[in-house]
Amino acid sequence: MRRIGVLTSGGDAPGMNAAIRAVVRTGLDKGLEVVGVRHGYQGLIDGEFTPLGARDVGGIMQQGGTILGSARCPEFMTEAGRHRALEQLAAHNIGGLVIIGGNGSQSGAHALSQMNFPVVGVASTIDNDLYGSDITIGVDTALNIALEAIDRLKVTASSHQRAFLVEVMGRNCGYLALMAGIAGGAEAVLIPEAPTDPEAVAAEIRTAYERGKAHAIVVVAEGAEYDAEELARYFKAHHQRLGYDLRTTILGHVQRGGAPGAFDRLLASRLAAAAVEQMAAGNTGVLLGQRQGEVRSTPLTEVVAGRKPLDLRLFELARVLAR
Ligand code: F6P
Repeated sequence: MRRIGVLTSGGDAPGMNAAIRAVVRTGLDKGLEVVGVRHGYQGLIDGEFTPLGARDVGGIMQQGGTILGSARCPEFMTEAGRHRALEQLAAHNIGGLVIIGGNGSQSGAHALSQMNFPVVGVASTIDNDLYGSDITIGVDTALNIALEAIDRLKVTASSHQRAFLVEVMGRNCGYLALMAGIAGGAEAVLIPEAPTDPEAVAAEIRTAYERGKAHAIVVVAEGAEYDAEELARYFKAHHQRLGYDLRTTILGHVQRGGAPGAFDRLLASRLAAAAVEQMAAGNTGVLLGQRQGEVRSTPLTEVVAGRKPLDLRLFELARVLAR
C-alpha cells in the first residue's frame, strides 16, 4: 500500500483537524502518500480527492470543525453508492482509508471493510455514544462549551430568580447532559436513559425555590423523553407557580463549533497516529479508541453491534449533589 485516504464524516467534532494532521504526518513518516477526501462519504462517491502534504495540515490543529468538510450521505447507505466509492478509490490508487467519525461513519467503515477494502476508524463524536472508546474526540470541548453556557446562565438566572431549561446535544445519549449537569451544578438533569416525570421535575424546581436557591438549572438532553421546549409547554399548561420565572435555552450546534482543547487535540493525535500504524501493519477493519486510558483497537464488527451504556450511578450523583 503506497497511498491512503482520510475522511471526516457525520457531525463535525472539535479535534477532527488534529486527527487529520496526525494521519498525514504519521503517513508521511511511514513513507505513505496521503490523500484527503472532501465532504465525507459523498466526496468519496464523487471522487473529491486532494493530496495532503505536511505543510497542508500546518496551523489546523487549533481550529474547530474539519478542513476536509463533512456530510451525512444517504447515497453511501446504498450498495450502488458504496460500489461507486470503491471504483473511485481504485481509480485513484488509494489502498486504504482512515475514517474519522461517530456511529454512522463507523457503520460506513464497517460496510467498506465487509467489501474487503482496508479501513481503520478513529472514534470522533461529541455524543460519546460510540462503542470501542470510553471517550471520543470532541466530547471534552463540547462539554466545556456547555459548561461555560451553564455558568453564564446561572449568573443571569440568579439576578432574576429564574429557572432555566438548558438543552444540550447528544442525540440519543445522555452523556453530555449528565456530565454538564454534574459539573455545572444543575438542580436536575433529564436524559434518555431514564424516564422523565415532568411532575417530579416541577417539584425539584419548586423545592429549590423553597430552599432559598437564587436560581434553578435543569439540563435537558435533546434525546430525553421531553425536550426542553416540550417541558416548558408542559409547565406553562400545568404549573402557573414554579416559584421561579422560567426561560429556555437550546445550545444546539454552538457546542460543536468550538476550538478544541488540549484533551481533544491530544486524544485525536494519539488515536489518528495509531490508526495509520495499524493500517501500515495490515491490521484493518478496526476502530481506534481509548479504553481504560490506553489506545486500543476494536473490530468494527463489534463496534457496530455494541452498545455503550451510560453509568447511571452518575445520574444518582447528580441528584444527590443538587441539594
Ligand atoms: O452526532 C452529533 C450531533 O451533534 C448530535 O448531538 C445531534 O443530534 C446531531 O449531530 C445534529 O445533527 P446535524 O448537525 O445534522 O443537525
